This record gives sequence, structure tokens and C-alpha cells, in this order.
Amino acid sequence: MDIQVHIEEDYAGLSHRAAEVVMDFIRTHPDALVCPASGSTPIDTYRHLAAHKEEVPEFGRQIRVVKLDEWLGLPMDDSASCEKYLQDRLIKPLEVSPDRYLGFDSDPEDAEEECERIRSELHRWGRIDLGILGVGTNGHLGFNEPGGFLLPDPHVARLTEETRSHPMVAKSGYELSRGLTLGLRDILSAGTLLLLVSGSHKHPVMERFATGWITTRLPVSLLLTHSNLHCICDREAVVGVEAQLRS
Ligand code: GLP
Repeated sequence: MDIQVHIEEDYAGLSHRAAEVVMDFIRTHPDALVCPASGSTPIDTYRHLAAHKEEVPEFGRQIRVVKLDEWLGLPMDDSASCEKYLQDRLIKPLEVSPDRYLGFDSDPEDAEEECERIRSELHRWGRIDLGILGVGTNGHLGFNEPGGFLLPDPHVARLTEETRSHPMVAKSGYELSRGLTLGLRDILSAGTLLLLVSGSHKHPVMERFATGWITTRLPVSLLLTHSNLHCICDREAVVGVEAQLRS
């Protein structure tokens, strides 16, 4: 497989490694357009970035950020929203100014129009330089859910049962059935992609990923078509399939 695989002993190691890779990237690409996922996996990576921001002055001054995805129907400041997650963990700590941050409104009047707004803004901003991705237990990327087809552009996604019970929103009190997400073309046109995977609950999906079969039924497998993918995992997520991943 033509991917750069980093296998760390545990979640702490993964988070340190991912933060190092991101900081090295920003040092050499100071005005990078970064697309961060939310979810539990990158939490400590983002914590390290915030803690080391003085070492990389470009963070707050130059980088631009585009939000990967968002739950549809939550208030923006709800503690379960991706907006709140990113604001608290990256945007505010790294002092990314509003003109350098682009993100879906979680509660727009017209969701299709909101996707169109993001599509045209992103077109103006140019391609993503660095994507920091996680994967769902069902193989989703952002909110690009498994199915018979995938969409290239920002769109409204119907969430699977599995995604609806994601810990981010399980206790939110909202019944969420849809999400807003960048599409596969947006993600795959990124210059560099990091895929962060942690924990034994991700092992089944990594077993499927490691087969190398590319299918819309496993959206993360589309990343195998990318020529600059770093897969940063902890041991539990990939035990037994390390050799396949490195082959
Ligand atoms: C969530 C988000 C994704 C995230 C993924 C994995 O539903 N939409 O952007 O990468 O699922 O989440 P976690 O890291 O919590 O396993």
C-alpha cells in the first residue's frame, strides 16, 4: 500500500506523533489551509498543538481552517456541535481570526444553500493543504457515510444509526438525522492527509481498510487512492494487520 504508516504504542503516542507531523507541516507551509475533523480521536493532538503554539507562530497568524463536517440542527454554541469543539480546541487557542476560518453553520435556514455557500467559498480559498481525519466505526469520513455512491462536494448527509449514536451527540438531547460535510473531492484533493485511528473499537474497520479494497461501502478506503496519506494509528487499532498496511 502506498501509504505512510506510523504505529504508536498507545493513544498518547499517537497524539504526540500527530501533533509533531502537523507542526512540521505548518512550519513548511505557514499559510496552509487545514481541514480538521472533530470526534474523540484528535482531542489530544489538538491539545498538544494549542500547548505548543508558541513554537509555531504561523499557527495563529497565517493558517486558514475549514471545518470538515457538522451536525445539522444543533445550535452553533451547543456543547455537542463540531463548531464548539473546534472553537474551543483550535480556533480560539490558536487565535485563528474569523476571516481565516470557514465552517458550516449547524443550524442554517436552508441546508442546501449552506452547502452551496461552503462550496463556493472553498472554491475561492483553493484546495485543502492538510486534512486531519478520523474514521467512523462504520468507515465514514466526515459525514460521508457508507452506501452505493459518494458525493464529491459539500452536501447534506443522512446519518446512519451508528453515527447518530456517536458519543459527541448521544447525550445532546437532540434527535439528529442529518449532517453537513465536505465531499470526497474536497477531501481527496488535499495535498496531505493524516488519518488518525485509535482503539480496539476501530479494529474491525482497519481490518477492512487493510485489505486494500476500495469501495463506497467503506468511505475511508477511498483514501487509498491518495498519494500522500499518513496513517497514524495506535497498536490496538491495527494489531494483526500491521504488515498488510505496510505492504
Ligand atoms: C464523527 C465525525 C468525524 C470523525 C469520526 C470519528 O462522527 N463526523 O469527523 O472523524 O466520526 O470520530 P471519533 O474520533 O470520535 O471516533
